Amino acid sequence: MKRAVCPGSFDPITYGHLDIITRASAHFDQVVVAVLENRTKSSLFTVAERIEMIRETTSNLPNVVVDSWSGLLVDYCKSNSVQVIVKGLRAVTDFDYELQMAQVNLQAAGVESMFMATAPSHSFLSSSLVKELAHYGGDVSTMVPASVNAALKLRVAGK
Ligand code: PNS
Repeated sequence: MKRAVCPGSFDPITYGHLDIITRASAHFDQVVVAVLENRTKSSLFTVAERIEMIRETTSNLPNVVVDSWSGLLVDYCKSNSVQVIVKGLRAVTDFDYELQMAQVNLQAAGVESMFMATAPSHSFLSSSLVKELAHYGGDVSTMVPASVNAALKLRVAGK
């Protein structure tokens, strides 16, 4: 079975993530969306909340499953027979960091990374931007699914 992982913080999942997950699911037998810790970021939603949002918004994709992991991504890949890491590249600004991670993951554990070009309509989109907009009452309805938008509104209101 060809199994890929789409890893990320997903805090919260956006239409940009969903674009990559949906397109990746057409190329692999199974795609695992794995919520991992990014030590450089603090999170708005708990891992359990993020998993629930991803499960709901990917429920139309039969070969997509959701999981979480605290530790190295390559250890997750080894423990779960995942052969390929799939990441989206939005712009050249993503490239340096993603290349560095892909090379470390290849060197450390022989795990391949593949990059998909983000759809141009999502090239500016990030969870950080969505959180910033939501914090100040901006409209993020074109950036995240309705259920995520509702959860964001509640969270920034302190609930
Ligand atoms: O959505 P993000 O925050 O850009 O995702 C980054 C993430 C979580 C995929 C990355 O930080 C990660 O892989 N974290 C797990 C620890 C690890 O394996 N780090 C990479 C070593 S080079």
